[in-house]
Amino acid sequence: MSKLIIDGCRSLSGSVSVNGAKNSVLPILAATLINAGENIIHNCPDLKDVDSAINILHHLGCKVRREGKTVIVDSSTITRYDIPDNLMREMRSSVIFLGPVLARCGKSSMSFPGGCELGPRPIDLHIDAVKKLGADVMESGGKLECTAGKMTGKDIMLSFPSVGATENIILLATACHGRTRIKNAAQEPEIDDLIAFVNKAGGMVARRGSEIEIIGTQTRENTEHKIMPDRIETATYMCMGAAVGGDIEIKNTCPHHVETITEALTQAGCEIVAGTDFIRLKRDKILGSTKPVRTMPYPGFPTDAQAPLMAAMLKARGSTIFLETIFENRYRHVNELMRMGADIKVAGRVAVVEGVTKLFGTKVRVTDLRGGAAMCIAAMSALGRSEIEDVFHIDRGYEKIENVINALGGKAIRE
Ligand code: UD1
Repeated sequence: MSKLIIDGCRSLSGSVSVNGAKNSVLPILAATLINAGENIIHNCPDLKDVDSAINILHHLGCKVRREGKTVIVDSSTITRYDIPDNLMREMRSSVIFLGPVLARCGKSSMSFPGGCELGPRPIDLHIDAVKKLGADVMESGGKLECTAGKMTGKDIMLSFPSVGATENIILLATACHGRTRIKNAAQEPEIDDLIAFVNKAGGMVARRGSEIEIIGTQTRENTEHKIMPDRIETATYMCMGAAVGGDIEIKNTCPHHVETITEALTQAGCEIVAGTDFIRLKRDKILGSTKPVRTMPYPGFPTDAQAPLMAAMLKARGSTIFLETIFENRYRHVNELMRMGADIKVAGRVAVVEGVTKLFGTKVRVTDLRGGAAMCIAAMSALGRSEIEDVFHIDRGYEKIENVINALGGKAIRE
């Protein structure tokens, strides 16, 4: 198992480039199933979850090849509709294959995704929608077997704007007769990227605010698409700059997608200049705290940026309050951050960070992807050397994070 060794307290300068978004490339790779032509997907990050999605496509009979950052999927050769348990478990978000497999094959068989390190991950909204659109669903022994009957578009009201459920409904609805309308749909930028891909493939999907309309249609067109920049990677690098101090540039990003992070860090005393596709962040005085941070569906503050921002606030003057509303168990990084000298109190979904003057490098163990990013940020602003174990969690969402830390003027090596 590899670990990261980080030497902290080195003022940052330099620039980094943001990769394609993990949370966009995964649903788009799944969406290639509904388009039995050649799908050329550019700007695919080199991540374990992307490999896992490609493994699922291979298993289903697709021809997939990777040329650098481009993945080419020909799904005309699909032969199966089942996804075995080991492939489902490789990737947390494998449930996004439910809609496209069912749309393409008229059947799907996969194991239930179950819980994960963030707490339970129910899929009731996905299942209710699949049933409403006309599929029979059998759940037994941890398996989910679906058979499409006469699939007809319907109005679906989501009780919560679930990102995964919205993606599954969009993809399944392309194979339904007539019009589907999703009300209270997720509005994350990754949803718009998926819609753009589906429309390029010949689909008919439109979003107006929190309502998405899908007209069922055959999608059979050779498609080329470039994945949008990763907004959580962008937020993570901004938090590195804020935590450690210095002057950094983040390139190939979309500043508009991280406005809540920009607002929080500006309030804390960072100087942030946003161009069309870059962000420059300067921090030369001691960081202050920021207004209470409440994680919310987009355009609210992203749950994925909660841990990185918390790490940035550990040495801020005053206290910062976090309220995590999306996932039950998303403070597992707190104990590890406290080992480095942080002062954090957690009560249920609330965490209060009291800024300390110093953090100390030590040995910590990564608990989950974004918690791991938080540990890197804390280690970069701690005195001395930190050893970060179980880096494989971080590798699920960041391409060689040590290269980014070094490019920004920090010091990290992987052992
Ligand atoms: C969530 C995040 C997304 C992030 C991703 C990876 C939100 C709204 N979504 O997407 O931005 O990129 O994690 O970390 O912030 N839920 C149900 N029943 C369902 C589906 C979801 O109760 O059928 C609940 C979940 O338990 C959770 C919430 O809805 O509390 C958010 O779920 P959802 O948006 O579906 O999660 P992801 O698609 O994983």
